[in-house]
Amino acid sequence: MADRRSSGGGDLDRQLASYRNEFPILRDKLYLNSCSLGAIPSRGLTALDDFGADWASEGTIAWEKWMKKADLLRGRLASLLGVSPRTLCLMPNVSAALAALSSALDFSQRTEVVSSDLEFPTVLYQWATRPGIHVRRAESVDGLEVPASAYHDLMGPDTALVALSHVLYGTGAIQDVDSITKMAHGVGARVLLDTYHSAGIIPVDLEGLGVDFAVGGVLKWLCGGPGCAFLYIREDLLEELSPRGVGWFAHADQFAFDPDFTPAADARKFSFGTPAIAPIYTGLAALEIFEEVGVKAVRAKSVGLVDRLVRGARDLGLEIFAPEESDRRGGTVFIGVDDPAGVLARLVEARVVVDVRGGKVRVSPHFYNSTAEIDRFLEMLR
Ligand SMILES: Cc1ncc(COP(=O)(O)O)c(C=O)c1O
Repeated sequence: MADRRSSGGGDLDRQLASYRNEFPILRDKLYLNSCSLGAIPSRGLTALDDFGADWASEGTIAWEKWMKKADLLRGRLASLLGVSPRTLCLMPNVSAALAALSSALDFSQRTEVVSSDLEFPTVLYQWATRPGIHVRRAESVDGLEVPASAYHDLMGPDTALVALSHVLYGTGAIQDVDSITKMAHGVGARVLLDTYHSAGIIPVDLEGLGVDFAVGGVLKWLCGGPGCAFLYIREDLLEELSPRGVGWFAHADQFAFDPDFTPAADARKFSFGTPAIAPIYTGLAALEIFEEVGVKAVRAKSVGLVDRLVRGARDLGLEIFAPEESDRRGGTVFIGVDDPAGVLARLVEARVVVDVRGGKVRVSPHFYNSTAEIDRFLEMLR
């Protein structure tokens, strides 16, 4: 495959524009909801057909191919996240990944998890529903961001884990993971990063960030569809962690059907049972595109689109709920409008896909959107 990585500027726009044809939904809709569900590329549709064809023609023999594809996906995710494939375990969703992780952590000495009011609920419920764990939530002052100092104020000798998102789902703000991680490590706590709203829209380097654990999935910005998520465990922690209640895919030699459990030597030891295969096919197809384009180019395009959206909405006298500086914004912007339900109904009628959350219109363009689409959208907010 030719390397279509771009060098930036107008060149970047032109090269990314060629990918618009890969996303069938763009022919019919103004699709600005990638933070919820990334658009499926035509390669993903072909991959779904291939999955059906392999199943139809090979039956159980297809499992060999399916397992190889699962490994390939692990490898692609690992390179996207800047880690070794050994440190990743595929999971059906983030909640399952968190359950597997929490089963392996020891809360007998340190009993607190520090998180924040702006975290996605599943990240909070995981700890709040476990007896003996006390969740402390750092507060946001402006409802947009949680200052690193607010996390820091809650950390102490009882902190076992700091659980935070790279990009906040409800505001699109990029968190200061680097300093929060350093602070957490300074008090002897571990760090769990939710990358659901960063992987695929901003560059993610888990090793560089130094976090201990991470979760995320291919559903949203990675355009791979529902049913495939991942758990990352820092390489040097793999040996000491023993997850409880795992499944047969976690065994060192799963097809030995050994009644005694010997854990896999890598992060697969966190696995449960038979995975869904279709999202592995679609995930692989989508990640191929991200490898070709490069997440840096995706980010450059996204910053341009989001800046234009913010400026344009402000010119219309609308209120923007997002950090002021573009380098602190992820891919999602919230726009205040007078009659959110009415505006949404109008947009749906005009075949625009966005969402309304908390009385604000949530807009999340991706690299496959164009500046012309942003302008058309802004016209409709007049
Ligand atoms: C930040 C974040 N974490 C996790 C999830 C989802 O978790 P799960 O895969 O368990 O549905 C979402 C969203 O849907 C999310 O926005």
